[in-house]
Amino acid sequence: MPTPRELLEHWDREHVWHPFTPMEEYAAEQPLIIKCADGCFLYDLDGNAYIDGVSSLWCNVHGHRVAELDGALTDQVDRIAHSTLLGISSVPAIELARRLVEVAPRGITRVFYSDDGATAVEVALKIAFQFWRQCPRPQPRKTRFLSLTEAYHGDTLGDVSVGDIGRFHALFKPLLFPTLRAPGPYCYRCPLGLERPACQIACAGELEKLVREHADELAAVVIEPRVQAAAGMITAPPGYLRRVREVTRAHNVLLIADEVAVGFGRTGRLFACEHEDVVPDFLCLAKGLTGGYLPLAATLTTDRVYSAFLGKAEEGRTFFHGHTYSGNPLGCAVALASLEKLTTGGVLNAVPQRAEVLKKSLDRIATLPIVGDVRQEGLIAGIELVRDRSTREAFPPSWRIGARVCRAARAQGVLLRPLRDIIVVMPPLTIELPLLERIGEVLYNGIRELGNELG
Ligand SMILES: Cc1ncc(COP(=O)(O)O)c(C=O)c1O
Repeated sequence: MPTPRELLEHWDREHVWHPFTPMEEYAAEQPLIIKCADGCFLYDLDGNAYIDGVSSLWCNVHGHRVAELDGALTDQVDRIAHSTLLGISSVPAIELARRLVEVAPRGITRVFYSDDGATAVEVALKIAFQFWRQCPRPQPRKTRFLSLTEAYHGDTLGDVSVGDIGRFHALFKPLLFPTLRAPGPYCYRCPLGLERPACQIACAGELEKLVREHADELAAVVIEPRVQAAAGMITAPPGYLRRVREVTRAHNVLLIADEVAVGFGRTGRLFACEHEDVVPDFLCLAKGLTGGYLPLAATLTTDRVYSAFLGKAEEGRTFFHGHTYSGNPLGCAVALASLEKLTTGGVLNAVPQRAEVLKKSLDRIATLPIVGDVRQEGLIAGIELVRDRSTREAFPPSWRIGARVCRAARAQGVLLRPLRDIIVVMPPLTIELPLLERIGEVLYNGIRELGNELG
């Protein structure tokens, strides 16, 4: 008789197709199956504890099983789990929209719900496209988008079109629309071959040039404010974002800020745009919106954009886009509770102190011979491992260095997931300081040992 655990492992291998996972390799190993969680710890079937070092894929804000969020969820379940937003409304969807507008950068007034980061951005792309066809002075030639090298905005085909991560996106090229691409602010491997600060953020200058040259055909620029996350936690130099806002505004091009990864306190401000006083035309939110509890997303925009969609139904200005679970009441109720805790419960204010503790660990890790670059913004960190520090030569991908470091960390009770050979640290914002230090210690030891092993 197989044990319950053996059965689960067997069924997982037989039936579950895991996202972003090489399944043959996965099936050859014993799967980690999470059974429950508490605070910043996840527990597997045997009761082993793991610190949730990447916030269950960058979405958990307050830890797991948070009393206020659990309460909001059960209260809402007692009323209704789901009703549609197509043509009718719901109490939590209204209340959350009101609250989001209150905390969003000034001038953002409208909330369009969907269910994931990918749909939040896809919605922004489609609204931007449609806007130029029906705004007061239509400019139907404005159909193109500009994004950055190494961009990641999700996995639907519109998002993949504006994305630029070769190993994820190249295969789908025949299905994609062409996008203008500006060099991203990847200072460690500058696409322009320059060094900071002498470069004077020349990559922003390149973007400005492209926007100027293509303004009459550009619907929008899409950007991940301050940190290009899936690219490898690439932190943009301060001032970069503001320059993008200035040039898009000057040339009448919309700005889509994809804060799916950086929103909700990650960078130390509620929204990353706040660091540079930027008000985008679209603010795309997901992941941390519900504190990491439920799939819910929102694309926020301005009255200027929204009013272009008004008119009698027969005028054909309606935005024909929606999802069955758009604005799901359970998600909205939990999001409200999460936002409340984040903004009034001191969570946001405590981010700088935690970021400082993380920085201390990162400074120590940065001294290790196979560490090429360490990047941090608030409670987001990327540690780039290299074969040769002086030439910045990367390890051969087949060595799976990032995966090896994370496997070693897992054996020490820290759950991480790399981006190639970039180790990501992105714990819940409420992580206790000793746990944060523990992540640093485990990583330091793991990277040092691997470096010694490689000689
Ligand atoms: C910046 C950014 N945009 C969009 C997405 C897509 O979000 P989701 O996985 O919820 O579709 C991600 C996911 O990591 C992201 O980092």
